[in-house]
Amino acid sequence: MGSLTRRALVTGAPSVALASLAAQGSSQAAQSITAGVVTTAAQDETFWTAIQAQYDVNRAIVPLENGNWGVMSRPVQQAYAENLQRVNYDNTFYARRSYGADLAAVGQRLADVLGVSPDEIAFTRNATEALQALIGGYNRLSPGDAVLYADLDYDAMQTAMRWLAERRGVEVVRIALPEPASREGLIEAYAAALDANPRIRMMLLTHLSHRTGLVLPVAEIVDMARTRGVDAIVDVAHAWGQMDYALPSLGADFVGLNLHKWMGAPLGVGALYIRRERLGDIDPFMGEDSPAPGSASARVHTGTANFAAYLTVPAALDFQGRIGAGRKAARLAYLRNLWVEPLRDHPGIEILTPADPSLSAGITAFRLAGQTTVEQNRAAADQLLERFGVYTVHRAGAASGACVRVTPALFNTVEDMVRLRDALRTMADERVLSGVATR
Ligand SMILES: Cc1ncc(COP(=O)(O)O)c(C=O)c1O
Repeated sequence: MGSLTRRALVTGAPSVALASLAAQGSSQAAQSITAGVVTTAAQDETFWTAIQAQYDVNRAIVPLENGNWGVMSRPVQQAYAENLQRVNYDNTFYARRSYGADLAAVGQRLADVLGVSPDEIAFTRNATEALQALIGGYNRLSPGDAVLYADLDYDAMQTAMRWLAERRGVEVVRIALPEPASREGLIEAYAAALDANPRIRMMLLTHLSHRTGLVLPVAEIVDMARTRGVDAIVDVAHAWGQMDYALPSLGADFVGLNLHKWMGAPLGVGALYIRRERLGDIDPFMGEDSPAPGSASARVHTGTANFAAYLTVPAALDFQGRIGAGRKAARLAYLRNLWVEPLRDHPGIEILTPADPSLSAGITAFRLAGQTTVEQNRAAADQLLERFGVYTVHRAGAASGACVRVTPALFNTVEDMVRLRDALRTMADERVLSGVATR
């Protein structure tokens, strides 16, 4: 990568090379041909070293638990500091007179990036608030109907779905997703649940699981459900920004997302999306008396929130946009494959996410062979940290048992992944040598 390109990343100055790469913006476009040799942008270490240098993160440990939230790059952090200073300095004079128009401009920008209309989205503080507003506001349920969710869905959303039993008098159906998963197997699991429970009217779908990293073929499942008259509320908290797609490609009518995971915005920024034709199926929030009843913004009411965090969204979108969604997704998959593929067939370890590249992204979970309890997986994560200096996290809740989740970020290096791979190989070898590995 030339110095022009590197400088553009640092300063935000336009660069022909970067602009054209960003404009390509798709997974296929993450490949370029140099002197007859195919190199993937995911492996351009000169480029990625420049990106890594944009993040001030503690490297005393190898940070591979980046699924909780995604830290801001330095330019975004600077923009946030400026916005905070401005809001604090101008005080309510700014909040009352200018913030509304500024926030509308931020909404327009987000809508453009998502590929939807601004009146179809509303800002929330996080994905939880967005999805709770959608699940709680969905008004097409009657007593005796049923709703569906799966073991890999996020805990707070499972709770909200169960609450519908009390609130709307519906039956709640829970399924376990197949493991190992295949595209057809996943679609079939949902189809079978809908066929077995014809009263299901609405279901929750998580595009990318925070437990195992499994990516659902959401567009196909939404389509299959629609032909059976079933609506889907889609949780893309981990998918949008980690993967490369425009929201309308999911075909989903109701979506909850955040920008503080994979868009690197300040903590406290989420959004909900409702397709315009479906606004009437989500109640105005607690009888919201909105000046714009026909917009998504009437479906959630947050009250005073962190002005500076929302005002920093354009800086986050700029930074991520300069990298390009396709290149970002390709890099995260590349970092993931550096540890997953060499270990996939090791008898001492189970990789939970399938080899099919359409069913995974950056996040992937493992467990040492046969170790399914929470305690065993907490111990495995502890061992990775204490013995090898690699920070990950255990996750519970998958029907097949607990696991350890590994989440790389754009600031992780190839060396980080190699360190993890070697540590896991040592732990898995030990498990085999001790004679307790079960596969
Ligand atoms: C799949 C999934 N959905 C929803 C959420 C909630 O996101 P937030 O913390 O922005 O509310 C998370 C958080 O980790 C998640 O992993």
